[in-house]
Amino acid sequence: MASLQTPGIQGSAPTKNPELLAWVAKMSQLTQPERIVWCDGSAEEKQRLTEQAVDEGILIPLNPQKRPGCYLHRSNPNDVARVEHLTFICTTNKEDAGPTNNWMEPEAAYTKLTHLFSGSMKGRTLYVVPYIMGPPGSPFAKVGVELTDSIYVVLNMRIMTRMGRAALEMLGDSGEFNRGLHSTGDLNPERRYICHFPQDNTIWSFGSGYGGNVLLGKKCLALRIGSYLGQHEGWLAEHMLILGVTSPRGETTYVAAAFPSACGKTNFAMMIPPKEYAGWKVETVGDDIAWMRVGPDGRLWAINPEAGYFGVAPGTNTKSNPNAMASVSRDTLFTNVAMTPDGDVWWEGMDGEVPEELTDWQGRPWKRGSPEKAAHPNSRFTAPMQNNPALSPKASDPMGVPISAIIFGGRRSNTVPLVLQAFNWTHGVFLGATMGSETTAAATGKVGVVRRDPMAMLPFCGYHMGDYLQHWLDMQKSIAHPPKIFQVNWFRQDKSGKFIWPGFGDNMRVLEWIVNRVHGRVPTEETLLGWVPRSDQGLNTQGLDLSKEALADVTSIKTDEWKTELKNQETFFESLGHKAPEALTLQRKLLISRLGS
Ligand code: GDP
Ligand code: PGA
Ligand code: MN
Repeated sequence: MASLQTPGIQGSAPTKNPELLAWVAKMSQLTQPERIVWCDGSAEEKQRLTEQAVDEGILIPLNPQKRPGCYLHRSNPNDVARVEHLTFICTTNKEDAGPTNNWMEPEAAYTKLTHLFSGSMKGRTLYVVPYIMGPPGSPFAKVGVELTDSIYVVLNMRIMTRMGRAALEMLGDSGEFNRGLHSTGDLNPERRYICHFPQDNTIWSFGSGYGGNVLLGKKCLALRIGSYLGQHEGWLAEHMLILGVTSPRGETTYVAAAFPSACGKTNFAMMIPPKEYAGWKVETVGDDIAWMRVGPDGRLWAINPEAGYFGVAPGTNTKSNPNAMASVSRDTLFTNVAMTPDGDVWWEGMDGEVPEELTDWQGRPWKRGSPEKAAHPNSRFTAPMQNNPALSPKASDPMGVPISAIIFGGRRSNTVPLVLQAFNWTHGVFLGATMGSETTAAATGKVGVVRRDPMAMLPFCGYHMGDYLQHWLDMQKSIAHPPKIFQVNWFRQDKSGKFIWPGFGDNMRVLEWIVNRVHGRVPTEETLLGWVPRSDQGLNTQGLDLSKEALADVTSIKTDEWKTELKNQETFFESLGHKAPEALTLQRKLLISRLGS
């Protein structure tokens, strides 16, 4: 046990790693906490911090009969989602961050934030949170250390990552680690910054308490810094769920899928097939992030670097996602959901009658029929993955799982058909690169506006988007047996604005077709956009509650809509300047000629 040499700081450090000790000392000198607590990840620690959080009003205990081990947290109403406009990639050259990221010069960013962090933990506790992204001992895994003054962050990181002693053990005395610094500050949005320094493997987050901004292992390390490391080290850090689907004959196929935030990753990863699919099973490896590398066998192997689910609460019910409902039945932290009079949680779209009276997400009385939502549209649950009845036995496998299909899917009320398969890898990268999606409540800003969101990575790519797409194209050379690539859209709407495709469990019908295509079992029909299911030998519609006309509608390809789409794609590629990969702009030209315009 080396003790910290910082004057006025109590506590001893359970590590001899000189880099870590020196950095903690330096950051505590900057932030001036009253004390330092090194987190070990133990049950005793969880209990102690939970009790303290309850005493301080940070957590509200829920009814232990209904939700054992569960607590509610209400965040500041100005701090309920990721803040993309306050998120920065700080690289020496502006061009390395690219046109889709906010950029700050590293020295300028350090200076600005040093000012904010200076004394920001006075009277507070600095928690040292060592954590592993990935299964312990996995060659894919990375160690991070987050310094934070928020108990809520500590308790969430405990669920979302392998936190504490295991991480210090993996780090050892000389290991490299990501340096994360977070202070809640005064929650003034004017003084809120999420800054990434990929060249220093460092993240500084100030002035927020919301998940995606402050659980630094998640979007910040696993995606923004991860994607940068992936480009340098020859692998992929992606905003993708990973699932295994097992057929009645016992064959398991692993699939990774990129959908933007609040566009169905958690639901798809936990899907329960409809009754027509007796003998089929879908199991969750991960619901948000995939780290993928080429294995010695020439296939693409993926791990889920996380250990829990930070999921969207509204819309989750026993019909849409029974596995998520089971996952949040105990030992779960809820953020910004509503509370029932008997101390349970509630959100829009939950099962059963809407309760007559509730306490809304801001702690105010709420009555049925009120025009305001009781739960915030981006209210969340943080649940341990062990709670998921459909957890894949491979979820903690250090080697991960071999990926046979990659799916890209946005939220589009029109234009994009239910499913199609790319002609080849380059065309698949083109489908991912040209993804558009309507914005959701997962980030602050207007909801429902179509924006280009390449591979669902727009807010998460830690370097130039053009280089990122080129990296995807280049990966093909090292993957001897590449996954097949698909595009889906669960969100087409009819004229009255209703979703046409029933979605959720019925997405199994699309997944089955994808699995059949992967194994080369069904013929397809070629369209100008890609291969689609044939009307015979295509999607299994047995028991599907959808008229022939509606199915035709949801799978239709409308030339006029595609002309508009191609215009938007052009603007996107132009925005990448000379870094727009030629192979992709050529794909666009080929599509224009197929359209005949
Ligand atoms: P994630 O943030 O990508 O993990 O998205 P979620 O799986 O949490 O879903 C976000 C929202 O989309 C929730 O309100 C879901 O109920 C809804 N959703 C998910 N899958 C489907 C689907 O197949 N069809 C429709 N219509 N909505 C869906
Ligand atoms: P998700 O991301 O919506 O993709 O689950 C979490 C977040 O945005 O903080
Ligand atoms: Mn999710």
